[in-house]
Amino acid sequence: MRVLGIESSCDETSAAVVSGTGDDATLESLTILSQDVHAIFGGVVPEIASRAHLTAITPVVRHALEQAGCAWTDIDAIAVTHAPGLVGALLVGVSFAKAVGAARGLPVLGVHHLEGHLFATSLDDRAAAPPFTALLVSGGHTMLLDVPAWSEYRLLGATRDDAAGEAFDKVAKLLGLPYPGGRHIEALARDGAAGKVRFARPMLHGGQRAGDADYYDVSFSGLKTAVLHAVRDAEARGTRDADAAHIARGFQDALIETLAAKTIRAAEAFGRTRIVLGGGVACNRALYEEIARRAAAVLGAGSAVHAPSPRLATDNAAMIARAGLFRLERGERSGYDLNAYAALPIPGLVAPGAAHP
Ligand code: KG4
Ligand code: ZN
Repeated sequence: MRVLGIESSCDETSAAVVSGTGDDATLESLTILSQDVHAIFGGVVPEIASRAHLTAITPVVRHALEQAGCAWTDIDAIAVTHAPGLVGALLVGVSFAKAVGAARGLPVLGVHHLEGHLFATSLDDRAAAPPFTALLVSGGHTMLLDVPAWSEYRLLGATRDDAAGEAFDKVAKLLGLPYPGGRHIEALARDGAAGKVRFARPMLHGGQRAGDADYYDVSFSGLKTAVLHAVRDAEARGTRDADAAHIARGFQDALIETLAAKTIRAAEAFGRTRIVLGGGVACNRALYEEIARRAAAVLGAGSAVHAPSPRLATDNAAMIARAGLFRLERGERSGYDLNAYAALPIPGLVAPGAAHP
């Protein structure tokens, strides 16, 4: 089966072609058009994002088909992100998919954006398949899940406030770096000394036990406030520029240690030896290296940590096509009433402790 994927949930217009059966899926093309205009505003402006998607969607889809060497007649189905995200932005992709589906007689399937992030790494590396522990860290979400099989997602923990990427972006703003700030913080932190500026590890302490409400949850708003105070103190001393790299390093180390410790807790608790990272923050090499270091030490030499390549970590349509391929093969289809939703649970998501249907 060959699936055209479409993604327009935030500020990238993307289309991709994926073909295959089961876990034997091949990425044939991927086109991503990033809307750089939002950098001027320091964050995504929803109305501008929707208009930019409208302008871009037709050429982006055409480009992805051309790169894959495909005509419309070579496509078997269309998978499109329909939640969660900016509703106006999502509607551009959903309306386009439904219109082309109707005109070409192709089945259309609405895909959950976060399920896409869970599938993304498997396009780089087929070993990134269930069972695994998943850490999803993007600009909008931070979730720790146990994944015994595709479509069986046990939510173990999430952020209580800011997403990991949001924390990176806010700290970058405090340090005068461009938006989105994650990769700028990572680069600056490389020049910082470990331990020179130390922040408390949010929601991480020795006395926590499985079953405690904060055992897997994370929180980054207190860390962000601590960074704000450190920046102000440095400004008062006149050492802001000299201290910026140490502050970035201190922030990144605190965030990474928290995420890494909780990810390893989850893998240990569920007996997983495989960890899969997803979302834009999964581009961060220091995060990957710390999780890999702890996995080798705690889970043993047979353990593996899989992080997506940068173009598959950040928002893209390849992951939507891949998740769509899985669901289409199960016989799932959406009707013409397919709609866009700002928030929607991942299909197959169950609460901790509950049995899978
Ligand atoms: O998954 P994504 O492209 O969009 C959402 O669905 O939110 O993630 C974007 C987020 C931004 O917050 C960005 O700052 C962050 O990913 N990010 C990084 C890095 N590269 C991107 N955060 C930390 N380190 C990076 N290298
Ligand atoms: Zn995303």
